[in-house]
Amino acid sequence: MPVTGRALKDFWHNTKNARTGKDVQLHADVKEILFTADQIETRVKELGHNISVDYRGKMLVLVGILNGVKPFLNDLLSTLNLPVSHDLIELSSYGQSTVSSGTVHVLKDVALDISGKDVLLVEDIVDTGLTLHTAIEHLRSRKPGSLKTCALLNKQTRRSVAITPDYYGFTIPDLFVVGYGLDYAENYRELPYIGELKINK
Ligand code: IMP
Ligand code: MG
Repeated sequence: MPVTGRALKDFWHNTKNARTGKDVQLHADVKEILFTADQIETRVKELGHNISVDYRGKMLVLVGILNGVKPFLNDLLSTLNLPVSHDLIELSSYGQSTVSSGTVHVLKDVALDISGKDVLLVEDIVDTGLTLHTAIEHLRSRKPGSLKTCALLNKQTRRSVAITPDYYGFTIPDLFVVGYGLDYAENYRELPYIGELKINK
């Protein structure tokens, strides 16, 4: 597991972004950067464009799944060229583990009335698919007019529920990643990039 309790200055060392040549501060618990802030920004804009085209002339309700989705949801909202409202739900998470517990509960429900509305469920990462599946079933019971899904990251090879998000940013291999909202035990959400967490087995 990653090392904790070190002096803050020991967590950082500089590295170069191979693509842009810019200096990047790589966290000492991060093995490798998968997506830089620039790459994420570009891809989120593309997703926002595609969603805006597909929902042209409609009003859209984005429902984000807490907590990891916050940076993605905010950035996605700002790229949409549509009238939108948004809300958040929270489902039970991995807690202190990097492996899904296999059961998911709704901890916080939507406050908006979504019946008859066009709803886009927004998730940070789809791994086994259980969280997204549970969220879909839950929102369906509220009778939205339409319901689609959007995830920033898609760990396609790990599915236990056959589900593919309608929109997704990047497909990644079976790695535990942190940053841009994604956490390990509530750490690393603030990193501007998405990187693979060092796991000492
Ligand atoms: P699933 O239910 O197995 O699809 O897992 C989805 C949830 O697990 C996501 O909403 C994340 O909060 C968390 N998760 C899955 N993989 C990762 C990862 O690599 N890093 C951080 N969180 C993850
Ligand atoms: Mg999480």
